[in-house]
Amino acid sequence: MNSTRQQIPRHVAIIMDGNGRWAKQHGKLKIKGHRAGTEAVQNAVKFAVENKIQSLTLYAFSSENWNRPKTEVSALMELFTWFLDNEVKKLNINNIKLTIIGDISRFKYKLQNSIKHAIDITANNTGLQLNIAANYGGRWDIAHAMVLITEKVKSGSLLPENLDEDTVNKFISLHDQPTVDLVIRTGREYRISNFLLWQIAYAEFYFIDVLWPDFDEEAFKRAIVVFNQRERRFGNTKPDNIYEE
Ligand code: IPE
Ligand code: IPE
Ligand code: MG
Repeated sequence: MNSTRQQIPRHVAIIMDGNGRWAKQHGKLKIKGHRAGTEAVQNAVKFAVENKIQSLTLYAFSSENWNRPKTEVSALMELFTWFLDNEVKKLNINNIKLTIIGDISRFKYKLQNSIKHAIDITANNTGLQLNIAANYGGRWDIAHAMVLITEKVKSGSLLPENLDEDTVNKFISLHDQPTVDLVIRTGREYRISNFLLWQIAYAEFYFIDVLWPDFDEEAFKRAIVVFNQRERRFGNTKPDNIYEE
């Protein structure tokens, strides 16, 4: 992609939806759809590295996804463990730093270990920041920040009268990374499904019909082109209209 012509968003967040429907469409078991989804993850990460996107946040498992059939949940957990164990070397070679956002305490010991290992190994990398949202919910994120803030107030290190947006922000996931510029959702659904809530206040949204396993380099390029057609005003006036009555 010609980055001299297209402005590259600094932080892209993706709701990777449509694995189940992709499997159905291809007459396959649902888990095959999730497996195909991991290939699309590898492609998206490659694209982000090549195009120097600073942060890529991928929604892999929501706090509500536990409600799915047990067999699907455990297959997803196995796939996640496999992905981490197998990809960590490649992430490292590509200078990618991995972070997980979400409440990992609910995961099995083995998966928690794979997560910690992958985070440790890539901790000093300085290239793409790859965030995987696992057992993540935007509401959990905000509630979790509130718990941490309450602890600070209780210990006396934070005065309630000093509490403002910036304080809250410091306790929210991804606060140490560029603000989310672009949210992509694949799979023909037009909702947030409890993904980042606080972080997307002024993000641009791009919803596409493509099912996640079919999300390839071309589709990602198209999302960047559409992003470039947007005029981000952040509540301000359109620059041309400043002098108009
Ligand atoms: C998204 O694909 C992956 C996860 C939520 C883990 P889905 O499994 O939701 O696919 P559809 O929406 O049923 O097609
Ligand atoms: C959102 O997809 C969660 C992930 C992509 C991980 P869902 O398939 O769970 O969302 P809903 O149920 O259609 O809102
Ligand atoms: Mg879905």
